[in-house]
Amino acid sequence: MKFEIKDRDAAGRVCKFTTKHGTITTPNLMPVVNPNKMLISPREMKKLFGTEIVITNSYVISKYEELKKKALQNGIHKLIDFDGPIMTDSGAFQTYVYGDVDIDPIEIVKFQRDIGSDIGTILDVFGTPDLTRKEAEGGVKETIKRAKMSASEKNDMLLACTVQGSIYPDLRMKCAKEISKIDADFYPIGGVVPLMENQRYADVVRCIISSKQGLDPSKPVHLFGAGHPLIFPLAVALGCDLFDSSAYAKYATDGRMIFPWGTEKIMNINEIPCCCPVCTKFTASELKKLEKSDLSLRLAEHNLHVSFTEMKKIRNAIAEGNLWEVVERRTSSNPYLLDALKVLRKTENKIWLEKFESVSKNKALFYTGNHTIHRPIIYRIHRRLLNRYEHLYNTTVVFPEGNKPYSTYYSRKIKEIFKKKNVNLVVRSHLGPVPIELDEMYPFAQSVFPKDIDIETQEESRKIFDEFLKEMKVIPWKESTTSPEPDVSEKKKTDMDLRRISAVSDMQFGKGASEALFNGQIEIVKSKKTGKIRNIYCDGKHILSMRASDGMFTLKIGGAHLLHKFFKYPMLRVVVEEDAVPFVREGKSVFAKFVKDCDPALIPLDECLIVNTKDTLLAVGRCLLNKTEMLSFDYGIAVKTRETNN
Ligand code: GUN
Ligand code: ZN
Repeated sequence: MKFEIKDRDAAGRVCKFTTKHGTITTPNLMPVVNPNKMLISPREMKKLFGTEIVITNSYVISKYEELKKKALQNGIHKLIDFDGPIMTDSGAFQTYVYGDVDIDPIEIVKFQRDIGSDIGTILDVFGTPDLTRKEAEGGVKETIKRAKMSASEKNDMLLACTVQGSIYPDLRMKCAKEISKIDADFYPIGGVVPLMENQRYADVVRCIISSKQGLDPSKPVHLFGAGHPLIFPLAVALGCDLFDSSAYAKYATDGRMIFPWGTEKIMNINEIPCCCPVCTKFTASELKKLEKSDLSLRLAEHNLHVSFTEMKKIRNAIAEGNLWEVVERRTSSNPYLLDALKVLRKTENKIWLEKFESVSKNKALFYTGNHTIHRPIIYRIHRRLLNRYEHLYNTTVVFPEGNKPYSTYYSRKIKEIFKKKNVNLVVRSHLGPVPIELDEMYPFAQSVFPKDIDIETQEESRKIFDEFLKEMKVIPWKESTTSPEPDVSEKKKTDMDLRRISAVSDMQFGKGASEALFNGQIEIVKSKKTGKIRNIYCDGKHILSMRASDGMFTLKIGGAHLLHKFFKYPMLRVVVEEDAVPFVREGKSVFAKFVKDCDPALIPLDECLIVNTKDTLLAVGRCLLNKTEMLSFDYGIAVKTRETNN
């Protein structure tokens, strides 16, 4: 099984996932194929919607003698006429729906293997939300036991081991940790169908988070039974890679149409808000006049069009770095989804999510509403302001929100102030305090907020603002040049460039980085065109370049030496195995499987020091993964090497 990250945003990822029957891209949707009643054949699905992978039920096949015989003789791919990857389920869901069903947990895994399933599922014990803790615990224990027994029967079939644990986060996490130790390939999150059916999305989110926290991050995760596109963006943002949909057929048979924001009965629709081939060909009234079976087919097609389009949108959003915007907009369409989004405001969840969030993004951070301020990337920048930023003086002049970049917008006033006194300058922005010298750093310059901000965001940024300036003498900007001199003893003139590079390096590399980097003769080279800082030399050595896109630094080998000497192991380090050292020395990128250790604080797109096991600096590069990912993935690049230490 090969699974590697190609792109990422939030805790979501675009991956390549390789099976015996080909490679697919995730996040993706697996339409459920009922071998007894195919509304649309898998072959047709591939043609119409670009379906890459389907799921069918091995228990149903094994129950019908005719199907069973054919499946065993010719294989599952012939049986349902599909040459791409096929996942099979085990009948665990039927046990939940129909009560006790007679299935042998090991026989059903062997059967899936013998009919040539690409991904077979264990017979997990479906943990409904109403279970007592004790009951849920029993189910988890049995699920783990069956997972272990199934692993030795899988041969070359990929094995899906489901996380159960009802709505008990600690049981979910424990189950996830235990099954991650097993030789399995694929991890569905199970038991969520009753939660989905009752729109208990907040509980679904808690189930996903606790499961993901225990799971091996290098394996695909499937949210079992979540087929409505309503939940896709949020679930993907939390790290779900695959979905299965029987909803498209179930709803169609019931005369219901799926839309990204919900479901509507065709009989209640005057004009269909959709431009898929079905809705382009038929008007609502024409559809209503169709025979029942014809109507079901057309609605199933529409439902799949909508579902697959949603997947494309989500993958695009990941590539563009605006998945949180899609999530926030989608969740606004349903009050229960808003409740689910609120779960992410808990500090412990922000801390978990922040580990996956890249240092900066291609796109500006767009405000969509009162949740935006709670995004993990804003949480990070607030933490860094409080923990890494050094106030130079004990008086701060505060500016109101203005045009960006603030240092240009307020340049006249700033000059005026600096002529008279040395003070800190901070903008009270909608996303919190912005020291003026950080005004070009992501996301301060690269964010778009409305002029009038909602009250919750005001309150949230005020809290951070107050904390940031506690014990500080604060002067409003209008009074800044008329108020008494606050820093008469300070003679040195403020050098804005030096202040900018110091503040950015502390924020980016850690407290004290500026001390390490700028302890010598500093030369700052600016762009002739924009006047912005480009390159920084210390004692003649090129140590940093500043990126115009996010106002952050690219670390040069000269700078890497200084940080390596200053910060103790493991800070900023990625340690590679001896075998990989010659490759790194040649400038080749570091593959995840060669990473031995890593600074737990490193996050995707962070600059890092590549070292050997003796902490000798080999090269400088840019991380694509966080620590737990680097240590778990067998495939893909962990660090893009930029410059070697030769
Ligand atoms: N289909 C929907 N939910 C589940 C689940 O929890 N386990 C299995 N095996 N299949 C499912
Ligand atoms: Zn349509």
